Amino acid sequence: METNGESPYGTDIYTEPDGDPDTIANLGPLAPLAGIWEGSKGVDVHPAVDGAEENEFVEHYELQPIDRQTNGPQLFYGLRYHTHIVKPGEVETFHDQIGYWLWEPATNTVTFTLAIPRGQVLLAAGPAAPDATTFEVTAAVGSETYGILSNPFLDQAFRTLSYRMVVTVNADGTWSYEEEAQLVIPGRDEPFRHADHNTLTRIAPPTPNPLAQGAAGAAAGDTSLGIGSLRNPDGAAS
Ligand code: HEM
Repeated sequence: METNGESPYGTDIYTEPDGDPDTIANLGPLAPLAGIWEGSKGVDVHPAVDGAEENEFVEHYELQPIDRQTNGPQLFYGLRYHTHIVKPGEVETFHDQIGYWLWEPATNTVTFTLAIPRGQVLLAAGPAAPDATTFEVTAAVGSETYGILSNPFLDQAFRTLSYRMVVTVNADGTWSYEEEAQLVIPGRDEPFRHADHNTLTRIAPPTPNPLAQGAAGAAAGDTSLGIGSLRNPDGAAS
């Protein structure tokens, strides 16, 4: 990619790169994460009135490829995720979380978004080599780029100062994460370390992203699934 010496994006902020229709082939260090996963060895430590509470949990984590995304010259390949967590043998949601894992090949950066139904969102990122088997993303409250936003009650009572998640892809095909959020709680001397970890085993492969499905259909001579028809319900070239 052309650079102007300071930015990897050059000076033209409007022109979009072509990119590849096949997201799974362009996910860098996120490639081994694509698919549907389960893990029953999760451990959570969260704040409780008398200090901390620790629970085991069972997790179902879906990571599905999305079509490449551009911001002018910036190009991302990514996975949309949803993780749903319960305590062993229970139906009630213990934790629910959605967002995106994004890979930017031009800058070797992993970007991560998180939204949880406590009324809290964050955007985190970290550097990674394309073939890295471990990488880390971080966010800090107050940052205007990789920051954390909480609803007013949480911001006052359980203020999340920072967030960190480390992912490790294991040799046996599973992957593990360790994450922590530092929470400032009124009346406590030090931030509370709200920590979670789990190891996930694949139970189903990913579904190819829409553009990849379209390209595969076109290659097989299936005009009903062509890229043009995905963009245009008439099937006419767009
Ligand atoms: C596996 C992941 C997680 C699990 C199982 C989990 C679970 C929990 C539980 C059980 C509580 C206590 C709820 C209560 O007593 O009302 C809690 C509190 C909290 N969690 Fe998490 N959590 C997870 C990840 C996260 C993440 C990633 C964040 C944000 C970055 C987060 C932010 C908070 C906050 C701000 C609180 C304090 C609110 C409260 O205690 O009511 N959690 N979490």
